[in-house]
Amino acid sequence: MSNKMWGGRFSEGPDAIMEEINASIDFDKKLYSQDITGSKAHVAMLAHQGIVSSQDAQAISEGLTKIQEEIEHGEFTFSRALEDIHMNVESRLADLLGPSAGRLHTARSRNDQVATDFRLWVRDTMDTLDAQLADLQMAFVEKANEHAGVVMPGFTHLQSAQPVTFGHHMLAYVEMLGRDRGRVQDARRRMNESPLGCAALAGTSFPIDRHMTAESLGFDRPTANSLDGVSDRDFALEALSAASICAMHLSRFAEELVIWSSAQFRFVQLSDKFSTGSSIMPQKRNPDAAELVRAKVGRIIGALNALLIVMKGLPLTYSKDMQEDKEQAFDALQNLSLCIAAMTGMVKDLEPNKKELKKAAGSGYSTATDLADWLVRSLDMPFRNAHHVTGTLVAMAVERNIELHKLTLEEMQSVEPSITEDIFSVLSVDKSVRSRVSYGGTAPQNVRKQAKRWLKILEREQAARQ
Ligand code: ARG
Repeated sequence: MSNKMWGGRFSEGPDAIMEEINASIDFDKKLYSQDITGSKAHVAMLAHQGIVSSQDAQAISEGLTKIQEEIEHGEFTFSRALEDIHMNVESRLADLLGPSAGRLHTARSRNDQVATDFRLWVRDTMDTLDAQLADLQMAFVEKANEHAGVVMPGFTHLQSAQPVTFGHHMLAYVEMLGRDRGRVQDARRRMNESPLGCAALAGTSFPIDRHMTAESLGFDRPTANSLDGVSDRDFALEALSAASICAMHLSRFAEELVIWSSAQFRFVQLSDKFSTGSSIMPQKRNPDAAELVRAKVGRIIGALNALLIVMKGLPLTYSKDMQEDKEQAFDALQNLSLCIAAMTGMVKDLEPNKKELKKAAGSGYSTATDLADWLVRSLDMPFRNAHHVTGTLVAMAVERNIELHKLTLEEMQSVEPSITEDIFSVLSVDKSVRSRVSYGGTAPQNVRKQAKRWLKILEREQAARQ
């Protein structure tokens, strides 16, 4: 049997393999509610413009509501023979209404229909991600505020570099997530144009009102070029690109959690809720959630890559290649949402181990820069000379296997005779972090100020969202 939606010129039905490669219903059924909402907006516009009668439009709209209920109650039978969500819904509408159901597809094509449905899904998902990211930022800000003065080692090359504050480290992620949200919001602004009414590719001779459907679907305006409207997927690419960068950020913190929670570091305690045990080694507490957040960035970047490769070289306008836009994008954005939720839970429960952090902060000659700065400030030494003197003192301490502040004044003076007792005042980690008050620096007072600034921003947003 040939397809009842488009089989007019066909005498034979598709090969079984053809059906399998062609059908998208297994994944695009996710778009059922966007599809029905889009169809309702379309048919209301057709009636408003006198293109279909208001009785037909009303019956179609009610039929669509019934179909939505059937799907949501698990009473709808999806059929692969009907290829995709658009034709599954329309075919059911025909069962319910008879031939008048066929009026819905006037002045429209599956090309503008799928472009609209998918845009609506991506747009709404971006809004959810943005709100989730705000919650994650809030979790980081609260930790930052609580632990503004807790010292820990700051690393470069994963080697102890200088002492920093735990709060400062938390706020670094708040900044990254802030930019991630900026990218999500930018992408959303650009994608919020309605392709509905572009029809197959060239527009339509029916007197439709694309501004009306755009407005009822919450779009800012209709797309201005019908060829572009049906054939670009840059909105999905931008979403996946923003998602990839965000997932990369989450993955970096996930990696830090894995390192920090190891027995070798013991910087933090992850809650039981986000750890697992080992079936053979009773002592283990594994940071599985963090590891999965670290790993899932792979499939998210993979989805971005896959869609870029699908789209490159496609001539205008629609080609069936573009049906491959959805499956991985769904997967990527949903997994990002899961990662953000898991990360939010982990951050909320995160307990810094202050004693270990402080001990580690003081090891590895982390206050060597403070010593060099003291030489510059107190002895008016050029920084390069100070760096050299400090290097000699560090070597001396390494040789004796002691911390910098354990060197005696006499030992220090044997390298630089003008050094005074006052030098010991800068060698503690607390003094070190407290001295770093330059804008954006790690001092606890800076951290409190920045945390307050973010708190205000996030609370204002929260209030606006309610
Ligand atoms: N399932 C198709 C997709 O996802 C819908 C559009 C089909 N259009 C067409 N001309 N065959 O892209």
